Amino acid sequence: MTIAILGQGSMGKALAGRLAGHAVALGARNPKAGELSYADAAAKAEIVVLALPFDAALEAARTLDLSGKIVVDMTNPITPDFAGLRFGHSTSAAEEIQKAAPSARVVKAFNTIFAAIFDAPVAQTRTIPVFVAGNDEAAVSAVADLATKAGFGVENAGSLDAARLIEPVGMLNIRFGYGLGKGTAIAPTWVQVAA
Ligand SMILES: NC(=O)c1ccc[n+]([C@@H]2O[C@H](COP(=O)([O-])OP(=O)(O)OC[C@H]3O[C@@H](n4cnc5c(N)ncnc54)[C@H](OP(=O)(O)O)[C@@H]3O)[C@@H](O)[C@H]2O)c1
Repeated sequence: MTIAILGQGSMGKALAGRLAGHAVALGARNPKAGELSYADAAAKAEIVVLALPFDAALEAARTLDLSGKIVVDMTNPITPDFAGLRFGHSTSAAEEIQKAAPSARVVKAFNTIFAAIFDAPVAQTRTIPVFVAGNDEAAVSAVADLATKAGFGVENAGSLDAARLIEPVGMLNIRFGYGLGKGTAIAPTWVQVAA
């Protein structure tokens, strides 16, 4: 499967780095000669990763032809003052993106993984879960496979409304990392002890 990564900022570059050797199409906002636009990259791919700020991701969902494609939403839809999330309880960024692209198969993933984590050795990130959620099981499975290829573990949280829960986990991670000074070499995980 070809994976389009729209956005070449911290997360887009970090994910592309972990997918070296796989079929990847990189989409740029202002493509230079030889580069692909978001639309051109998306057209080549079965999986389209929106490595964009939430408003830009929503705009991409509204305007690109994403029909039938697996669309990865990694956004943390933070308020401009960084104090909290713009959505919660009754919807989520991922569900808003799904509404904007109803024929796409949206999967929440990667929002709890800081870009800096991608620079760690894969041996250290295999135990870090990418929390995934989506309504299309085949799409969730493909994104779980993508997370595995990128060197992470996977925690499947079920249907897309679970993004209402995963996005606050991303926000908590940001609070720990920036607000409470733990830095960006941290990630949330889920632990089960022996019963
Ligand atoms: N950074 C992290 O550690 C982290 C972790 C988890 C999730 N996330 C989420 O991942 C997404 C990408 O974050 P990032 O850190 O990679 O951001 P970033 O470094 O600021 O990169 C943003 C990318 O989006 C593009 N873009 C397109 N339209 C834009 C617009 N209207 N305004 C600003 N940028 C626009 C930028 O293009 P240009 O290069 O042309 O400006 C750039 O390639 C965000 O939703 C963020 O919440 C980030």
